[in-house]
Amino acid sequence: MSTRTKIKALLESGKTDIDVTVKGWVRTFRNNQFIALNDGSTNSNLQIVVDFENTDPAILKRITTGAALSVSGRLLASLGKGQSVDVKATSIEILGDSDPEKYPLQPKKHSLEFLREIAHLRFRTSTFGAIFRVRNTLSYATHTFFQERGFVYLHTPIITQSDAEGAGEAFHVTNFDLANVPRTNTGEVDYKQDFFGKSTNLTVSGQLEAELGAMALSDIYTFGPTFRAENSNTTRHLAEFWMIEPEMAFYDLKDNADLAEDLLKYVIRYALDKNKEDIEFLTQRLLDEEKQKPQQDRSDLNLLEKLQFCLDNDFERLTYTEAIEILKESTPNKKKKFQYLIEGWGTDLQSEHERYLVEKHFKKPVILTDYPKEIKSFYMRQNDDGKTVAAMDILFPGIGEIVGGSQREERLDRLEQRMDEIGISKDELWWYLDTRRYGGCPHSGFGLGFERLVLFVTGMSNIRDVIPFPRFPKNAEF
Ligand code: 4AD
Ligand code: MG
Repeated sequence: MSTRTKIKALLESGKTDIDVTVKGWVRTFRNNQFIALNDGSTNSNLQIVVDFENTDPAILKRITTGAALSVSGRLLASLGKGQSVDVKATSIEILGDSDPEKYPLQPKKHSLEFLREIAHLRFRTSTFGAIFRVRNTLSYATHTFFQERGFVYLHTPIITQSDAEGAGEAFHVTNFDLANVPRTNTGEVDYKQDFFGKSTNLTVSGQLEAELGAMALSDIYTFGPTFRAENSNTTRHLAEFWMIEPEMAFYDLKDNADLAEDLLKYVIRYALDKNKEDIEFLTQRLLDEEKQKPQQDRSDLNLLEKLQFCLDNDFERLTYTEAIEILKESTPNKKKKFQYLIEGWGTDLQSEHERYLVEKHFKKPVILTDYPKEIKSFYMRQNDDGKTVAAMDILFPGIGEIVGGSQREERLDRLEQRMDEIGISKDELWWYLDTRRYGGCPHSGFGLGFERLVLFVTGMSNIRDVIPFPRFPKNAEF
């Protein structure tokens, strides 16, 4: 078997007049003569020129959209326009047929909604090929960023006993026969008889365990799947999503914000370098999509410009309290255009408020800090004002919250007091509290929602389109 060359390598080689073997899937077949072949290594198709007069008609009939082929032939400078080279086929082998009557991906434009229903095949479209190559790069770049800085990649557990965010949105994990759940004398579910001897759930965040690692290894990060049973059917939420969670000993909130800004810029720059062609394609896709919209709803910057803008500018940093002042005085608040009006200090910001700050007021990424303690988690470090905690959220244009993090409460008495106030069991989190008992120190960390990052870099608008097989309420297909 002759060696197969990937199309990307072949196009980048700049070579012509050589014999090659390529393998891939047929995108289109025109005039019984021109095959557009794609193997996923690049957005570009390779044109195969078929000598149809000397090709077995039975083979020609089987060259249909979706079929898998192995093609050997001569790589030549192309005579046609639209491509620099093509392959003059000398032999074509059909590796897998694809019935053109039944193949769901016809060579025409399909809606993203339709493609979501055939997520097992959507990788074969130009849009999804580009998205998942960019996703891959962002993932690789994340590891590179942390590894270059001496962070230790730590695997935190998927099955846990704690609901780290205390929001009650965890999926239960049980081995019970659901038709026959063991009960205690008092009628409660008897978890002692369950697999782990305790009530367990899928992790909502690796943070608490990540903190334990940082209290010895200094700088660690996790990058894994997290699960939330929040019943929010939005374009920004998944029930299963990937989160990047660094945790750093001896970092305060400012160090934390600096690291997050550096990380975001680093991975975006990495993708721009590595996936230029894909991002250009996605930029054009978005321009085409926006042509359907009225002028005022179109973006000022195209995708490429937006990414570049994000690299070239410092993120705006301000406190929650300052943000509330801006929002209170804003036109949509005064004209009662917000669904949730900002009346005073203390309420949580809704995505309409976050987006106003980022897209209308500052027109760039924003880092909001020092939120009221009531709307944030128990582990955040309490500020001296007695009202706020050293929290930070990073808000991105078109996305809203992309990062959530904080400096952690390292003072045992303050932490215990807050847990008591909120009603979080100190017994269950004995191990977490131990790190405050033995050599506790100032430390900080954050969580970056990986799919929200991919959304931003690809310019897609629905989070279900940037993870291969999205999980959301009433959907776990594939
Ligand atoms: O703000 P969150 O809930 O923070 C935490 O979980 C912290 N324990 C992180 C930490 O400090 N180590 O989530 C962090 C980020 C959000 O900013 C958002 O980008 C993303 O995770 N996220 C989701 N992404 C998709 N679907 C969901 N349901 C998400 N919930 C949060
Ligand atoms: Mg958050």
